[in-house]
Amino acid sequence: MSDAKEALILGIESSCDETAASVVRSGREVLSNVIYSQIDTHTIYGGVVPEIASRKHIEVIVQVVKKALADAGMTAEDMDAVAVTYGPGLVGPLLVGVSYAKAYAYGIGRPLIGVHHIEGHIAANYIENKELEPPFMCLVVSGGHTHLVNVLGYGEYEILGRTMDDAAGEAYDKVARAIGLGYPGGPKIDEAAHSGDPEAIAFPRAHVEGEEYDFSFSGLKSSVLNYLNSLEMKGETAVTADVAASFQAAVVDVLVGNTMLAAERHGTKKLAIAGGVASNSALRAAMEQACADRGIEFYRPSPKLCTDNGAMIAGAAYHKYLRGDFAPLSLNAVPNLPLPSVKQN
Ligand code: KG4
Ligand code: ZN
Repeated sequence: MSDAKEALILGIESSCDETAASVVRSGREVLSNVIYSQIDTHTIYGGVVPEIASRKHIEVIVQVVKKALADAGMTAEDMDAVAVTYGPGLVGPLLVGVSYAKAYAYGIGRPLIGVHHIEGHIAANYIENKELEPPFMCLVVSGGHTHLVNVLGYGEYEILGRTMDDAAGEAYDKVARAIGLGYPGGPKIDEAAHSGDPEAIAFPRAHVEGEEYDFSFSGLKSSVLNYLNSLEMKGETAVTADVAASFQAAVVDVLVGNTMLAAERHGTKKLAIAGGVASNSALRAAMEQACADRGIEFYRPSPKLCTDNGAMIAGAAYHKYLRGDFAPLSLNAVPNLPLPSVKQN
């Protein structure tokens, strides 16, 4: 067993369509990071099919965990704890990871740690920014979540804003499908937008009345669909790159605008982004500039640690390990697990 501060944690993630496992030391040093993506399996359906995802996780989880240990040059017995995402996410996929992690922890006689998926995304920032410590503000933008969070301490969150409808990544995926780019939409729109004009079409920047830090993306999605329909009625075709760039500009404007408003009001000195959409090139550039303009220190994980992975789960679990916050072997998957927060707005 390692010294607690040097703890070696096996992190397992299976909440959506990535089967991932990683060995992380001290919450910040990644010794291995294996990600088996199911994208090719789901592409023909235009999105993740939960039942197929569950079956795929079952097929590969043993090999993914074995490879994570082998890549780290470790054996199961070297692990000090086994961490797993237990929510939020798709119930079937979550259950595969949770069941496997429970059996694994029991088998090697080490504690089990249940991790909230969003805490994992936030913790990805600790891995690549060794000096980053709370307090800081974090915008979490993924396929399932859009949360503006004040990270007050490890495991202590104040939720400032959230989406009222679609998550940012969900909007990317739906718009990509509508303009024929397919799944997964985020990276494809990001790519297409490079050759488009972000000012070609004036899509709306939605603000939620009375809730300045909240987000809403379903109106923007409808606006893109209406634009496409109106062109079709006139027998015209849309310029895909311009639609992608203009849609992306609308999303990024709102994400950066709300975040900066909150950061100014809270006197934020450090700001991070996390989640799959945090790998978006336009968002990274705009947030970096907005932070630089205000003298705010900006942090973001590399794209590989923005999308789902096991390292972020082991990273978040480390702080629970230090607190002795272990899960019982009766741990269950919780598809709608709320982020543990000290204050909700
Ligand atoms: O964090 P993640 O891997 O899974 C969830 O927790 O949901 O995020 C996946 C989401 C998808 O909606 C995907 O389209 C989006 O992140 N995404 C991106 C980019 N890469 C992934 N969105 C915009 N730009 C990207 N480059
Ligand atoms: Zn995620």
